Amino acid sequence: MNLTGKKILLGVTGSIAAYKAAHLTRLLIKSGAEVQIIMSASAFDFITPLTLATLSKRPVLSQFKKDETGEWNNHVELGLWADLFLVAPLSANTLAKFAMGSCDNLLSAVYLSARCPVMVAPAMDLDMYQHPAVQSNLNRLEGFGHEVLHAESGELASGLSGQGRMMEPEHILGHVQSFFKGNDDFKGKKVLITMGPTLEALDPVRFISNHSSGKMGMAIAEEFSKRGAEVFVVSGPIALKVSKEKFHWYSVTSADEMYEVAAVLHPKVDICVFAAAVADYAPAQIAPEKIKKDSELISISLRKNVDIAFELGKMKRGNQIHVGFALETENEAANAKAKLKKKNFDLIVLNSTKVEGAGFKVDTNQVELFGADGRSVHSELASKTTIASLILDQIKTIPVWV
Ligand code: CTP
Repeated sequence: MNLTGKKILLGVTGSIAAYKAAHLTRLLIKSGAEVQIIMSASAFDFITPLTLATLSKRPVLSQFKKDETGEWNNHVELGLWADLFLVAPLSANTLAKFAMGSCDNLLSAVYLSARCPVMVAPAMDLDMYQHPAVQSNLNRLEGFGHEVLHAESGELASGLSGQGRMMEPEHILGHVQSFFKGNDDFKGKKVLITMGPTLEALDPVRFISNHSSGKMGMAIAEEFSKRGAEVFVVSGPIALKVSKEKFHWYSVTSADEMYEVAAVLHPKVDICVFAAAVADYAPAQIAPEKIKKDSELISISLRKNVDIAFELGKMKRGNQIHVGFALETENEAANAKAKLKKKNFDLIVLNSTKVEGAGFKVDTNQVELFGADGRSVHSELASKTTIASLILDQIKTIPVWV
């Protein structure tokens, strides 16, 4: 995709991967973008501003004041100028500053004042990358709504091999292009997403539930919103930090409540994504008082919960698209395809339970997509944001709107 007219602020920080910023700048400029580079002081140890200024065709900025004139490099204006703020490579140090909102150089000041979307490509050694402090800072940035282009695996500058390498410039360019392309390809579409777990009360203080964190559903909701859709989220209780203003947000607790809200919204939406991990069974009776531990053995009768996707699948209009999820531990593909048919889905996303780094609670996933039209698409292990984008790209090619 041509990036003509797109204004990109490119932040470059102190990492051995800073040399790749030269190639990235060239790719962005060749695609037609205007690129303004801001370097952190430590980036100067890895690449010269002359190289980046020559490639970007603009002076590189790094100080609050222009040396010669004492004139101000206005960080607020820079933040307003840009359509996208891309930081590549993002070092552990600058990541920590962004996560904490600290501001001691031009780059972090522009970050705090930027109103445009932010995309970051971290780069560091594998042990640094895996450190819980770094991972939690990356999660924090994702929680702010930023797109994290997760490091790739391979040989690192330290000689070690593992995840930590900055995403290759060609891949970063792909994300930038899909960011701009995707800005409004779902504009005018209304989307309903069920997500998170449901909690089924046993007594006033206890419940039955599951490990769903809501991360995959949230990534899909974010992606739809980013790509212009009006998004209705019906979410079970989740612990994620969410900017709910972007969505029509409905918090529910039990499967019955989720169904009630979803059934009201269903007739007015074009697309439904059933990403919730609905508890299949609920206690047949909710004890009015806390159950006391009087007996050695107790049994709880469970009743089957409403199958939200199945019920709404029966009401699906010809121009609606239904997307479901499946989590299987055996005969994965066959079970997923059976669910696709039974629940009248157009597309089903099979979550891997066997791959490390995929599934509940983690930020990455690996999926297999099966379509009612016979399509079958396999993803690599990737961030849930990347998987969400893949799912939307597949939804776009289901031919019900043409
Ligand atoms: N689903 C739903 N309501 C339910 C159960 C599931 O809407 N009561 C939806 C899920 O959101 C998902 C799909 O149906 O999109 C498949 O869910 P899954 O739990 O894999 O399948 P189940 O139908 O519950 O079958 P089983 O647990 O027996 O594998």
